[in-house]
Amino acid sequence: MAIFVSTVVGLMLAASVVNAEQVKNYRMCQNTNCDVYDLFVDPCPEALENQACELPQTENVSIAFKYKPKFGSNLPKARVSAEIFMLDLPFILNTNTNACLYTNCPVVKDTEQNWLYNFFVSKNFPRTSYTIRFKFWDTEPIAHSDDPQCCFKFEIKIV
Ligand SMILES: *[C@@H]1O[C@H](CO)[C@@H](O)[C@H](O)[C@H]1NC(C)=O
Repeated sequence: MAIFVSTVVGLMLAASVVNAEQVKNYRMCQNTNCDVYDLFVDPCPEALENQACELPQTENVSIAFKYKPKFGSNLPKARVSAEIFMLDLPFILNTNTNACLYTNCPVVKDTEQNWLYNFFVSKNFPRTSYTIRFKFWDTEPIAHSDDPQCCFKFEIKIV
């Protein structure tokens, strides 16, 4: 199963990378227990000028990155949210907290892994700026502040 999922994520990464640009303007959350690197967003031509990605309504977007966690997890949970005016909104209809949909499970400590998150930008999403936050953690339905977790964020604009 792990090999199958790995192959699927690998193919999706290969397919998704065609129009992707590397985003360097991201920052780790406080108390994060991982390294995150090679963040690619498709589409994001703005990244070439170090500007926030402009994601058009009614288009598919993919976000891919590599990470190396300082913790392992058999059943990692995830939350992708958009912060707007300090409010934390579940992002773009996708509230599935099963992190294994986006990365290979189990998550293995000190091992480089890929993450791929695809979503459709609905018309319901107001055209404004957001901070997207990715967070995943081990098993608990809700992350407690002292649980090992991996979290980072970056700016986007829905256009
Ligand atoms: C977005 O992706 C879905 C699922 O792959 C596809 O059916 C749809 O045509 C895509 N929409 C656009 C605008 O590319």
